[in-house]
Amino acid sequence: MENLVNTSHSINDKAFKLLTKKLKDEKIEKIIDAGSGKTSASIVLKYYPQAMVDAVVYPGDNRKKNPLENAIGSDRLNVVELDLCSSSVVGNYDLCLAMQTLGEAQNFGNSFEKLFHSIMDIRAKWFVLYDILEDPCVHYRYIEQYLKEKGFKIITKKKFRNPHPEHYPKVKFDKYKLEFDSKHFVGYLIKNLNMEK
Ligand SMILES: C[S@@+](CC[C@H](N)C(=O)[O-])C[C@H]1O[C@@H](n2cnc3c(N)ncnc32)[C@H](O)[C@@H]1O
Repeated sequence: MENLVNTSHSINDKAFKLLTKKLKDEKIEKIIDAGSGKTSASIVLKYYPQAMVDAVVYPGDNRKKNPLENAIGSDRLNVVELDLCSSSVVGNYDLCLAMQTLGEAQNFGNSFEKLFHSIMDIRAKWFVLYDILEDPCVHYRYIEQYLKEKGFKIITKKKFRNPHPEHYPKVKFDKYKLEFDSKHFVGYLIKNLNMEK
């Protein structure tokens, strides 16, 4: 018996479905939700009903860990407390999802680059990166440049309008505190060409 959060009305659910359209013939059996929460974990469990999911949260981030353990019931979900920036992830995955994770790097004392590099170091065949377009902490041009240089191929890139924008007041960005509204999301489906070698 599985008890997932109903995400069917969420833009993140629709976006994930669209972004992973081209994976329909791929065998996706092992997934890592890098920077997890009940929404992203429910989405991957729902769309990949045969897959095992490792849900990574920053150690002590009970804001995410408790709902994952209490709101979701699934034998296929394994909650892992791990700082992606200081410990390597062991094992191979078919798919790595990072949904609104990169924007939180600085909340836990890491730079955007460090967290992004650590996520891309995970041995996964496919990646889905998905974040807020307006978030000043997420450097999209750098993401695309890095992927091009390091053996990754962007298969799909899409922009999504957020029907329910939220206001983020005074987000810490380097020495600044900036505010923004989450009016859009950007998502990528990325193929890791390094896993084919
Ligand atoms: C905004 S939440 C993501 C929400 C989730 N993906 C969802 O859609 O429900 C950001 C997540 O990234 C995690 N995170 C941020 N920095 C991290 C790090 N260095 N190592 C591991 N997890 C990290 C936080 O613990 C949290 O689970």
